[in-house]
This record gives sequence, structure tokens and C-alpha cells, in this order.
Amino acid sequence: MGSDESTGDVHVDDPTGDGPSEPLCRLTNERREAVAALAAHSRRREMATGTGLIQRHAARLLVSRNSRAWSRAWSRARRAGTTTTSATMSRDPGPRRARVAVVGGGAAGLAAARELRAEGHTPVVFERGNDAGGVWVYDPRVEVDDVTGTDPNRARVHGSMYASLRTNLPRECMGYESFPFTKTFAGDDRRFCGHGEVRAYLAAYADHHDIAKDVRLRREVLSAEPIVDDWRAEDDAKAASNHQSEKDSGDETWGPRWRVTTRSTGDDDDDDDDANVSVETFDAVVVCNGHYSEPRTPSYANAKRWPGLQMHSHNYRTPDATFKGKKVVVLGAMASGEDLTREIATVASDVVLAARGFVPGAPKNDFPVASYPKNATLKPGIVELIPERSGVRFEDGSVEEDVDVILYATGYQYAFPFLSDAVSDGYLSAVDNCVSPLYKHVFPPALAPSLSFIGLPWKVVPFPQFETQARWIAKALSGAAPLPPRREMLDDADAFERSLASNGIARRHAHRMGDAQFAYNDELRELCGQPPAGTWRAEMYAATGARKRSQPASYRDGPIPWSDEAARADARAEADAAGFGTDPARDEVEVKAA
Ligand SMILES: Cc1cc2nc3c(=O)[nH]c(=O)nc-3n(C[C@H](O)[C@H](O)[C@H](O)COP(=O)(O)OP(=O)(O)OC[C@H]3O[C@@H](n4cnc5c(N)ncnc54)[C@H](O)[C@@H]3O)c2cc1C
Ligand SMILES: NC(=O)c1ccc[n+]([C@@H]2O[C@H](COP(=O)([O-])OP(=O)(O)OC[C@H]3O[C@@H](n4cnc5c(N)ncnc54)[C@H](OP(=O)(O)O)[C@@H]3O)[C@@H](O)[C@H]2O)c1
Repeated sequence: MGSDESTGDVHVDDPTGDGPSEPLCRLTNERREAVAALAAHSRRREMATGTGLIQRHAARLLVSRNSRAWSRAWSRARRAGTTTTSATMSRDPGPRRARVAVVGGGAAGLAAARELRAEGHTPVVFERGNDAGGVWVYDPRVEVDDVTGTDPNRARVHGSMYASLRTNLPRECMGYESFPFTKTFAGDDRRFCGHGEVRAYLAAYADHHDIAKDVRLRREVLSAEPIVDDWRAEDDAKAASNHQSEKDSGDETWGPRWRVTTRSTGDDDDDDDDANVSVETFDAVVVCNGHYSEPRTPSYANAKRWPGLQMHSHNYRTPDATFKGKKVVVLGAMASGEDLTREIATVASDVVLAARGFVPGAPKNDFPVASYPKNATLKPGIVELIPERSGVRFEDGSVEEDVDVILYATGYQYAFPFLSDAVSDGYLSAVDNCVSPLYKHVFPPALAPSLSFIGLPWKVVPFPQFETQARWIAKALSGAAPLPPRREMLDDADAFERSLASNGIARRHAHRMGDAQFAYNDELRELCGQPPAGTWRAEMYAATGARKRSQPASYRDGPIPWSDEAARADARAEADAAGFGTDPARDEVEVKAA
């Protein structure tokens, strides 16, 4: 089925390219030549086998290579449950304190600030917008220069939320563990609330944990460059040592310090660009820039000549005149495509929802066909645009003519322009929505723990996972949960990527988790010395998924035909235990049961 994310290996064209172009690290000439030679070798191997990963091998230059067999055995043992990890587990803060630059003040950046503070670090959160909250800060503006979101020179808008958006999870399930979302913060008492309610919740979270002081608003990170000279000499010496002495050194996994360049984005700031730019040094960088802002729009041969309007869901806000009485094709049938098809159908004459691989007449991803509006039809993916007839040809050969609008609800791509050129220097790549190599979706082995990412996994419950990842990062930086040696992390990342290939999982789905998220979260919790999370969240997640599949149009409202009251009770008990539910100083109101 086209909407089943686990199937189908057709790759979307990526017209904006795969990102950075400035070197992330300055390499010595000798090392640069070696990287180039290895990259060329890997490219040849890639061409021969279709499986080589240039970046992985280039990055491997940065670590010693004498313990792969041991590492494989370690991984096997860990999978078999005969060992937990080579890292030390601790609930207590470790001895090291770091000044940490956090890129982005959305839900992930706020969680980073909270967990870094809790571990004794000093976070500085750079947020280029006027307020913290990321995509939950509804922005009515769209990217008017190019609504397909493909022109690299367009003026960017971060927000992708549309006006009517409501959560697709019950709020209890969505909330952070350290600040339960069991009450109402902006008067919207629906369990599946609107975006304004989530924004108010995030503001309350920041307030509760006293995070605002750590956030610098209207400050964009232009670049984050590792300061490599001292670090490299130290790292080379360690890479040359044997495994045991490296482990014993206690400091083997500290990465470089970082030079972070930021500029003010405030309207009333000095017009002089140089005056608005500042450079600071940090011990570490945590990347929390989100990945639902840079459209992933397919490019069709005739797209430029096609006479109708083509736009990406990133630039959709309301079912306005653009759609009124029009024939609209929506491509992509995940959350955005599903929701927008139903909303646009309230004003359009016809809506065609096209999902890759969809077979007409069959239920779509378990969604009952009868659940779609009467003026909506389902089609497989688009193979061609036909400018002469304002037409669209689908995978089954059928053609829809006189189409007015194509709305690409085809998702987003990861982009880290400020980390520039991690690709060519082999530390990191971000191609086809796979950030690689990464240890447990968080640390690039060559630079860990001083560079880390929060929030790369998708098809997850984001906020509690952000918290867990942030806690792990904070503890890795402090030394309370030291990371394994770099080569071990790299082998782990390597094994993960091989498992994608051997299980037929497309690289663009590398960070897709689904049900696996709960075991992953528990694994990170264990590394932080925490017990596994309660099961109520997973139960609520599963119950919501089942309800969405059976009632895609109405799963957020109405009488609930399944009961998650036990899970809801657990969520509230957890909130009460945290002292939140009973805090008389707070005036939040009760949430409706359904
Ligand atoms: C349409 C839509 C609906 C969603 N619905 C749900 C839902 O119902 N439930 C749910 O749990 N999740 C939902 N999500 C997922 C949502 O993305 C996460 O909940 C979460 O908010 C992501 O937080 P983040 O901090 O990772 O990213 P973001 O919220 O994107 O925040 C990133 C921040 O980084 C800033 N930034 C980026 N680059 C820079 C830079 N160079 N310098 C300084 N600042 C920078 C941005 O301005 C932004 O504020 C939805 C997402 C979308 C797009
Ligand atoms: N609260 C809500 O109700 C709500 C509403 C909207 C969005 N969201 C959230 O926002 C995030 C983004 O969701 P999204 O739906 O915009 O993006 P998404 O989840 O990435 O889905 C995009 C879909 O388009 C498909 N696609 C990509 N290129 C295609 C092509 N050329 N032809 C046909 N199909 C193509 C993708 O298939 P492949 O995966 O195979 O590439 C995928 O199924 C998610 O976290 C989602 O939960 C939430």
C-alpha cells in the first residue's frame, strides 16, 4: 500500500540537494588525502555492490580499527542480553560540566535545556523565531516566493501547522514525563487539542522548569564549527592506543569544542549585518532544529509547464479561495495528506488522494474507503504531469484532466545547513533522510559526545522521547553515562545500517520507529540509570492507532468505542506522583474524557 511506510522503495527526487557544502572540520592534508582515497574506494565499492557508505568509511579513519571482532561480539552479546553496555550507568550527575549550545528552541530544545541544567551544565538555546515552541507556534505566513518549497533562495518560514490542526495523540500520551499534559493550559479542553493548547503547554513546561532564562530568542545559528586542532592531536593519540587503555583513559569519547556563529533575526536590530553577528565558543552542541520545515517535493519532468498551482502542504494554512470549487489532487497519504484531503473536500468540487502503490477499490492502509468524503476519490501515486490537459497520470495508467491544484503532502527532509559539510569530510551525512553514521540516533561517533541530535526519530511520541534523549546526552557529557569507544559506536551504527538493508528497509525510513520506540526509550533510560517507563503510554499509543484506522475521520472526537481509561488513570497517577496534578497554585482545568 502506498501509505504503508514500511513498504515501497521508490525514492523521492530531492531537488534541494542533500545539504551542506562547507567543511565541518578542517582536515590535515595527509588525512584529507586519505579520506579522499578512501571515499574513492568506497564509491567504487558502492557502485560494485550498491551497499557501500562513503561517509561511514571516511569517518572510520578517525578511529582505530583493531577491535571490530570484539565489537561485533559485544553487539551480539548485547542483543542476546548477556551484557547491558560498556557505559557506566548512573542516576547521579557526573563530574564534568559543559557550556552547551542548543540549536533550536522547539519542544526538543526546551527538553535539552531542562535536562542539561538538571545535570549541572550551562545550556544556551538559540532560537531564531520570536518565541520558543517550534512548529507549535502557529505561523499564518507561507513561503510566498515558492509554495512548492524547492527554491533554495526562497524566504523560509519554519511553521508547517495549518489553522485547524489538532493533535493526533491524546494529550496525556504526548506530554513530557517531567511535566504531564493531563490538564488544560489555554482553555482548549479536548483531549486531541488544537495547536494553541500545545503551544501553551510548552510555555508552561518552560515556566515550570525555569528554562526561559536559557533561551536566546531571535538568534539564528549560522554555523557550528568544531575547533579541531588540539582535539585532533589528542584524538589521534588515543586512536593509536589499544582498546583497553582507551577505555581506561576515562576521557576517550570527549569530542571537539565548538565555534558557534549566530546572527540576530530581530526586525529592529542594526542594519549592519556584521554588527548582528556574534561568535562564541562552546564545549558541546546539541542539534534540535526540527525536521518538518524543509519540504520534500517530487520533481516531475513537466512540472514547470504544468498550468495549475503546485504547492507543498508546508504552505497550506486554510481551505481558502485557492481550493474553492476546484479539482485538487493531494499526493501522499500520511497524516497531512489524510487530514488535508478531508478539509479541502469541504470546499473543493473534487479531491483525488493519491498514495504510492494504492490499489483502487482496496482499503487504504486499513482506512475504510467509505470514511472519505463523497467528493474524494483514491488513486495510486503520480507518474506524470500532462501540461496540455492540466492532467495528472497515475501509476495505474488512469489520467485526471483539468486539475487546478496539486498539493504535495509528501513529507519533509532533514537539513543541517549550520553544520555545513559534514558530508564531504566524512563525519556525518544527511542523505535521503538518513543521518549517518549515528550511535542510537543521537551521537555521530567521530564527534561524540560533543555533537548530538535530539528528535531525529519519527513515527514516535516526540516529547517524552526528546526528554530521554536529552537526559542521555546530558549524562554522556557529564561523565555519568560515558559512551563506549568511538569505534564501538561506529560498529553499532554500521550494524544498524546493515540491518536496514538486510530487512529491506529504505534508507529514508532509517529513523522511523513506530512500536520500536518504546524499547528504544527504555534502552536509553537504562543507560541513564532509570527504570523502564510505565506501559500506559504505549497502550494509549496503540489504542489511538487502532481507533484512527477504524475511524480516520472522527477518531479525535465522539464516544470512544475502546477504553483507554486504565491508561488514562495511570497517566494521571504519574502526574499526581510528580506533584503536578494536585498543585493548587495552578489553574489548569480538567480535560474532557473524550
Ligand atoms: C503539521 C504537524 C503536525 C504535528 N502534529 C503532532 C502531534 O499531533 N503530536 C505530536 O506529538 N507531534 C506532532 N508533530 C511533530 C512535532 O514536530 C513535534 O511534536 C515537535 O514539536 C518537534 O519539536 P522539535 O523541537 O524537534 O522541532 P521544531 O518544533 O521544528 O523546533 C525547531 C526549532 O528550531 C529553530 N531553528 C531551526 N534552525 C535554527 C537555527 N539555525 N538557529 C536557531 N534556531 C533554529 C526553529 O525556529 C524551531 O523553533 C507535528 C508536526 C507537524 C509538522
Ligand atoms: N496532528 C496531526 O493530525 C498531524 C497532521 C499532519 C501532520 N502531522 C505530523 O507531521 C509530520 C509530517 O507528516 P506528513 O504527513 O506531512 O509527512 P510524512 O509522514 O513524511 O508522509 C509523507 C507521505 O508522502 C509519501 N510520499 C513522499 N513522496 C512521495 C511521492 N513522490 N509519491 C507518493 N507519495 C510520496 C511518503 O511515502 P514514503 O514514506 O514511502 O516516502 C509518506 O507516505 C508527522 O510527524 C505527522 O504525524 C500531524
